[in-house]
Amino acid sequence: MKPGAALMKHFLQIKDLRAEEYAYLFERTRVIKTRFKNYERYTPLVDRTLAMIFEKASTRTRVSFEAGMYQMGGSVVHLTTGDTHLGRAEPLEDTARVISRMVDLVMIRTYEQEKIERFAAHSRVPVINGLTNEYHPCQILADIFTFIEHRGSIQGKTVAWVGDGNNMANTWLQAAEVMGFKLHLSTPSGYEVDHAVAGVGDRSCFEVFDHPMRACEGAHLVTTDVWTSMGYEAENEERLKAFVDWCVDEEMMAVAQPDALFMHCLPAHRGEEVTAEVIDGPQSVVWDEAENRMHVQKALMEYLLLGRIG
Ligand code: CP
Ligand code: NVA
Repeated sequence: MKPGAALMKHFLQIKDLRAEEYAYLFERTRVIKTRFKNYERYTPLVDRTLAMIFEKASTRTRVSFEAGMYQMGGSVVHLTTGDTHLGRAEPLEDTARVISRMVDLVMIRTYEQEKIERFAAHSRVPVINGLTNEYHPCQILADIFTFIEHRGSIQGKTVAWVGDGNNMANTWLQAAEVMGFKLHLSTPSGYEVDHAVAGVGDRSCFEVFDHPMRACEGAHLVTTDVWTSMGYEAENEERLKAFVDWCVDEEMMAVAQPDALFMHCLPAHRGEEVTAEVIDGPQSVVWDEAENRMHVQKALMEYLLLGRIG
């Protein structure tokens, strides 16, 4: 075992870190973002390499990790299924053993969570979940940091989730339990969150609503996501019909808190899960949310590689 290996942390789902570690990460994010905005160089990851493995498409995740790593002085190797032996049936475990002897950190976007867990089990270096069918923890880090920037602590607040019981919904649910806020969930019948998958023990951190309007009542944040996630494209036609009443519109925003925010992890489909009036309207913070992916991930990479600073 490498020296320090016992202390190595992976970030595969929200439950992997504790509330006080998130508090630290959000504070570091603030510092790192401020430095970036002031054009101050901050390069603690010189000579460190991040390997990014994409088995699904990405715009934000790729650019935010790649730009973030370069800004911190490190470098990046970008891999996809098609241009590696992953697409030619080399066992994932062998890929993990090999890659983690050459780089310092690995980010993976893939299908089943079980795959990233197997990779991490055979990796010598920290592994970050860049989205699986079950979770998208880096996105929720960015979302919560964005909430804190605009409104202060999320503790005790209410977040309304309108739409699919997907990877984002599962991750919001875990975050509600770990960070102490309430999640109002409204999904069409047949697309509910699977609580066994979300893995949440405290049932008081969420409430389920049949009607999306009811879920939005009094919410401090209303959020949604695509009706058809990557990997589920074959279900698109039936989802278009099932989700038709789960479009976040101005009526839903009107029953939330007067200063409620709107978030969407993007990419968005205006006229499906959200109207143009809402996503392009005054309550929407989706562009800050997208930008903050980079800042929170810089803090996360620093934490996983260097531990606490100061
Ligand atoms: N929100 C998000 O993860 O976007 P990408 O799919 O573009 O990476
Ligand atoms: N739920 C979406 C999120 C995309 C960032 C998907 O998995 O495709």
